[in-house]
Amino acid sequence: MQKFLKSLGPVSAVIGAQWGDEGKGKVIDILAEHFDVIARACGGANAGHTIVVAGKKHVFHLLPAGSLHEGKPVVLGAGMVIHLPTLLEEIRTLKEAGMEIVPRMYISPAAHIVFDYHKEIDTALEHRRASEKGQGIGTTKRGIGPAYMDKAARSGLRMECLRWDEKILKTELNARLKSAKEMYGIAIDEDKEFNQLITAKKLLEDRVVSNTAHLMHEFLEKKRTILIEGAQATLLDLDHGTYPYVTSSFTTAAGALQGLGLPPRALASCIGVAKAYCTRVGSGTFLTEADEESQKRLRDRGGEYGATTGRPRRCGWIHLPDLKYAAQINGFDTWNITKLDVLDTEEKIPVGIGEKDGKAEYTYLPGWKTSTVGLQSFKELPKAAQDFISFIEEHTKIPVGLIGTGQKREDMIIKS
Ligand code: GDP
Ligand code: IMO
Ligand code: MG
Repeated sequence: MQKFLKSLGPVSAVIGAQWGDEGKGKVIDILAEHFDVIARACGGANAGHTIVVAGKKHVFHLLPAGSLHEGKPVVLGAGMVIHLPTLLEEIRTLKEAGMEIVPRMYISPAAHIVFDYHKEIDTALEHRRASEKGQGIGTTKRGIGPAYMDKAARSGLRMECLRWDEKILKTELNARLKSAKEMYGIAIDEDKEFNQLITAKKLLEDRVVSNTAHLMHEFLEKKRTILIEGAQATLLDLDHGTYPYVTSSFTTAAGALQGLGLPPRALASCIGVAKAYCTRVGSGTFLTEADEESQKRLRDRGGEYGATTGRPRRCGWIHLPDLKYAAQINGFDTWNITKLDVLDTEEKIPVGIGEKDGKAEYTYLPGWKTSTVGLQSFKELPKAAQDFISFIEEHTKIPVGLIGTGQKREDMIIKS
């Protein structure tokens, strides 16, 4: 572990290489113990990062998955869009578990607020797409797109407003509610929106810093090590993903640096996270999507149901050209291949290596047909599983440093 940690350097980012849910939360939780500061840069409560510690499952949507490590500052960066009731709920859940996180939270004043009306607009837009195009994007309906629309239109309310006088806050909020009603014909509970804002103001006003870029720079100056938690994943990136079936933020390493106000050269390393197979929630291309029977098997074994929406995830096989693409965009130094154990019962494992006439081309690697659950050393892995990992390394030309072998914090091989 020490050698691996040393190779990461003082600032490291964990970035999804597929369509999300690769298991970023788990690796963040494991690494967070060894970093001083944990920072989330982008996205909102569309993220669902699950970790399992001492038999207890925790799902984080807005707080970084590294939050369970007492005493470490957690940063919510400028690239984020924050639904305040969800954030307060997460804070409350941690409190019930005996953890007071508020005093170590540092929130960017430039992060945008997601209101309930953004969720209503998200739903209305999905209905419109479904009736006009036959299908929607399959968003999480967490108001993400509409909140980033307001941000790009320069009309959004940002976390800085928690510091404003209540009267001004009400005027500013009402103006937005009025125009949302006019534009989308949605119903809005004005009192509820305002009250939620005031509740959050009371708890979090003091946690909104003056500028996250300054804050991150201070951490760097003090030689604090920083772990950056990516949300969503490369193929969901607004610029580089499978548009229009993407999210509305920048999910890459560059997007994370932008979201936190860190210069590119601050990043010492980047960990790419990819499942040993592949999943996707929502609509859009999925070249290696498996047949129904295999999908069901992978879904059952991998527990492939959305951590945010509970939707069954579409399941298929790993596609190495996508991993290479993600590695190019993010500059991965090492892979965390997750959920290797889910493949334990496969006879042979399809590995996507290219595309011909719109169909995936596969190489079939032999399965190992034995349990790898909980293994912690590469040597203990069956030969066929070792070969599967080596195949990924050879094709992507990036070493696999971490291998997930189960849901629990301990279920991880450090290979370096
Ligand atoms: P994230 O969004 O990338 O953080 O991933 P999610 O938490 O949405 O989904 C990953 C799921 O896989 C969670 O339920 C994790 O507990 C689980 N998980 C992570 N790593 C492993 C692993 O190596 N093996 C198994 N079986 N489950 C894992
Ligand atoms: P984590 O961080 C998986 C997907 C949605 C939909 C598309 C757009 O847990 O990996 P949005 O609500 O963002 O407008 O939806 O993006 N999506 C995710 N899929 N994991 C996520 O986050 C996701 N965040 C968004 O399913 O297809
Ligand atoms: Mg997830």
